Amino acid sequence: MPADYLVISTSLNPGSNSRIMAQRAYELIKKQEKSEYLDLREYPLPVCDGDAAYEDPNVAKLSNKIKAAKLVLLAVPIYNYSFSAAAKNLVELTGQAWNDKTVGFLCAAGGKSSYMSIISLANSLMFDFRCVINPRFVYADGSAFKNDALYDAEIEKRIEELVKSSIALAGSSTVLS
Ligand SMILES: Cc1cc2nc3c(=O)[nH]c(=O)nc-3n(C[C@H](O)[C@H](O)[C@H](O)COP(=O)(O)O)c2cc1C
Repeated sequence: MPADYLVISTSLNPGSNSRIMAQRAYELIKKQEKSEYLDLREYPLPVCDGDAAYEDPNVAKLSNKIKAAKLVLLAVPIYNYSFSAAAKNLVELTGQAWNDKTVGFLCAAGGKSSYMSIISLANSLMFDFRCVINPRFVYADGSAFKNDALYDAEIEKRIEELVKSSIALAGSSTVLS
């Protein structure tokens, strides 16, 4: 059954911090009917070439799941003052599937200075695909994690706020469209 609420972990790192936040967000969101957690490691994707890569079966699988959802929470690593190439590749390959989604972000970074790095992804989803972006995004640096677990009450609270406000936003944007 297609899910209304998707949480996608885009880090390919086995010891990922953004995945820890994605899993926490999913624990909260799965109380809603029809929710699903996706780990990009389980859907290996070709690099987008604007051509044959679109024929990969995992592209169709992910596109269909994104298309069917009304809310997508994306957990992303921050690389080079931007979001990771793997996350960008996902968006490039699934393109129009993002039309009219409500989108929220959980960003994991090494330090505090890259906190605006998600802006270009937010902009492209907003302008290309008319997504409604939840401004209540989560940004956590390495100090929020210890022994492969979230260890920061403020980040925990922000994840809860992100989930709660995203569900509300997804409901109201459905009414508007
Ligand atoms: C190639 C690369 C580039 C990175 N660039 C940045 C950066 O610009 N700013 C930053 O704060 N951290 C940067 N980091 C640190 C990562 O954001 C950090 O390791 C984070 O935990 C990655 O998310 P993940 O653990 O979910 O994979 C970089 C790490 C790598 C491997």
